[in-house]
Amino acid sequence: MSTISHPHKYGDAIRLAADHDLRQHIVCVTGAGGFIGSWLVKLLLLKGYSVRGTVRNIEDPKNLHLKGLEGAEERLTLYKADMLDYESVCLAFNGCDGVFHVASPVTDDPASEKVNVAVVGTMNAINAAVKAGVRRFVFTSSIGAVHMNPNRSSDTVLDENCWSDLEYCKKTKNWYCYGKMVAELAAMDMAKKRELDLVVIVPPLTVGPMLQPILNASCFRVLTYMRGTKKACPNAVMALVDVKDVAQAHVLVYEDPKASGRYFCITTVVHRSEFVRMLSEMFPEYPITNECEDKVHPRVNPYKFLNQRLQELGLEYTPIKKSLYETVKSLQEKGHLPPAHMLPVSPRIPSSL
Ligand SMILES: NC(=O)c1ccc[n+]([C@@H]2O[C@H](COP(=O)([O-])OP(=O)(O)OC[C@H]3O[C@@H](n4cnc5c(N)ncnc54)[C@H](OP(=O)(O)O)[C@@H]3O)[C@@H](O)[C@H]2O)c1
Repeated sequence: MSTISHPHKYGDAIRLAADHDLRQHIVCVTGAGGFIGSWLVKLLLLKGYSVRGTVRNIEDPKNLHLKGLEGAEERLTLYKADMLDYESVCLAFNGCDGVFHVASPVTDDPASEKVNVAVVGTMNAINAAVKAGVRRFVFTSSIGAVHMNPNRSSDTVLDENCWSDLEYCKKTKNWYCYGKMVAELAAMDMAKKRELDLVVIVPPLTVGPMLQPILNASCFRVLTYMRGTKKACPNAVMALVDVKDVAQAHVLVYEDPKASGRYFCITTVVHRSEFVRMLSEMFPEYPITNECEDKVHPRVNPYKFLNQRLQELGLEYTPIKKSLYETVKSLQEKGHLPPAHMLPVSPRIPSSL
C-alpha cells in the first residue's frame, strides 16, 4: 500500500468505509489510556472503527477503564508500546489505515527524556506510520506551540499561522511548549518529505470529565483552585476547550478528505480571574480564591483567536462553563476532590498582609 499522494482516493476510501463497515477500518491511538486518548478511543469505538490503543503497561489498573468502553470487547486491542521504542510502535501501527498520535508527557519537567518523548517519539511515530503505509496521520499538538511569543502585539488575532518562539520557551523554561513545538515542526517536515498525509490538532488547556481513574495535568489545574491550594491567580489569560470537542476534532479531520494542515481547537480565552469566577459561581462551597497576585498592573486582556476551521468541518464547541462543571463533578466522582466540608481547613491569609 502506498502512502497518500492522492487525497481523493483516500477520501473515497474513508467514505466507502463509512458507508459500509468501519470494523474493517483499523486505526491506532497512541497514549490511549490518557485523558484525551481515552475519549478519542471511546468516540472511535462508538463510530464503529476497529481501534488499537497503545499503552506502556497493559496490566496497569490505570488503563482498565479502556476495556469497559462500549465496543471495546469486540473492536479494541491494546498494544504495549513505548514511543521511544521504535519496534514496539511499528508493531502497533502495522496494518493500520490511520494513526492518531496523542501520546506525550504533559509536564514542564526539564528532564531531557520528557522532551525526547515528545520529539523522538513523534519521529518514531511518523517513521512507523510511513512503514505501515498509513493513509492519514493525525498529530495532537498544543497551544504551547503557538502562544509563547513575547514579540507579538497584543491585538494580534492568533490563527494557524502563528508559532511560539523557541528561544523564549527555552529562556522561560517552558519545556513542555518547547517539546511540543519541536515535535510538531519535525512531524510536518518529515511528513512532507515522506509524503505522509498529516493533519494537526492544536488544543489549549483541555478540561471536561475524565474517563481514566488517575488525574491528568490539565484537570489537576482545576483541582488546585477547587481545593484552595492556589491562594491567588496570576494576572494572565488561559485558553480552554472541552475534552470531548478535542476527541471529536481528531475524528473530524481524520474523516474529511479535504482536511489538511493545522486546526485550532479552542473554545474560549479568559482571564484567570474569570476562570475562578466561573468555578466559584457553580461551586460556592469550595475555598476558591478570588484574589489576583498582581495588584499593580492592569488586567491582561484575553487574546483574540480564530477557531472556525473546525466549525467548518462540523464541530460545535461545548460552552466552557459546562465543561468546567463536568470537570469538577468528575474530580468528585473519581475521588480526587472531597466534598467541601471534608477539605482540610487552611487559614485564609488576607492578601493585604
Ligand atoms: N490536556 C491538555 O490540556 C492538553 C492540551 C494541549 C495538548 N495536549 C496534548 O494532548 C496529548 C494527551 O494529553 P493528555 O492531557 O491526555 O495527557 P495524559 O492524560 O497525561 O496522557 C498522556 C499520554 O501519553 C503517554 N505517554 C507518555 N510518555 C510516553 C512514552 N514514552 N511512550 C508512550 N506513551 C507515553 C501516557 O502513557 P502512560 O500512561 O504510559 O504514561 C499517556 O497515555 C499530549 O500530546 C498533550 O501534549 C493536552
